[in-house]
Amino acid sequence: MRRFVIAGNWKMHKNVAETSAFIEGLTAAAPSTAVDVVIGPPATSLPSAAMLLTGSPIGLAAQNCHWETSGAYTGEISAAMLSELGVGWVIVGHSERRTLFAETDRTARDRARAAQAAGLDVIYCIGETLEEREAERTFDVLQSQTDGLGALDPAHLVVAYEPVWAIGTGVTASPEQAQEAHAFVRSCLERAYSAADAAAVRILYGGSMKPSNAADLLSKPDVDGGLIGGASLDVDSFSAIIRAAADCAAGE
Ligand code: PGA
Repeated sequence: MRRFVIAGNWKMHKNVAETSAFIEGLTAAAPSTAVDVVIGPPATSLPSAAMLLTGSPIGLAAQNCHWETSGAYTGEISAAMLSELGVGWVIVGHSERRTLFAETDRTARDRARAAQAAGLDVIYCIGETLEEREAERTFDVLQSQTDGLGALDPAHLVVAYEPVWAIGTGVTASPEQAQEAHAFVRSCLERAYSAADAAAVRILYGGSMKPSNAADLLSKPDVDGGLIGGASLDVDSFSAIIRAAADCAAGE
């Protein structure tokens, strides 16, 4: 039985004060502890967020980390530095990193390895573009994007399937499209890990998940949560998605 993960990817949104207000609101909403809840604010908000979340079941994610522990890498932050702050998770390989900041499968894998070595859990993002889907190359793309995952520890890995055409567009994959892709990703994980380990990895859906479509997506057997952008910026909509996951976990 896999626990749902509901993770917010804030991207370059919310300053320190806005982050604190969000955490207060989310804590007051008392999100279900039957679901793993994670927020991913910008790096500048991580120190204060880590302090506010001390002792809280709400997890804290960075949106990137470097693959080296230290060195001449202007502008970068190492996984050990995140861990020192009390950050427990890192999002790696997001499509915006891939398309805007030259991230590759190789660099994403190296970042993920470094994150795990520093004790962080990884949310590893994959997903096809619209062009690739229309050319019926979705499975090929997912296969090659998951090829390097064998180098990672499945016990500290969450995969996020985020079709690029659904990210920030308001267009969501149908529950059937999501399930088909997630089942395929799990078959890729079965080649990298033991059957038991592959079965335990949570695979999140990302791409315009919101309160109105969360329950349908989460009802699919291989959809183990969501990585949410836009709808994670508002406490009410994020809380509604967490409730949808909790209801689904309770079999309602
Ligand atoms: P979205 O973003 O929910 O705004 O589509 C998801 C993501 O980029 O992780």
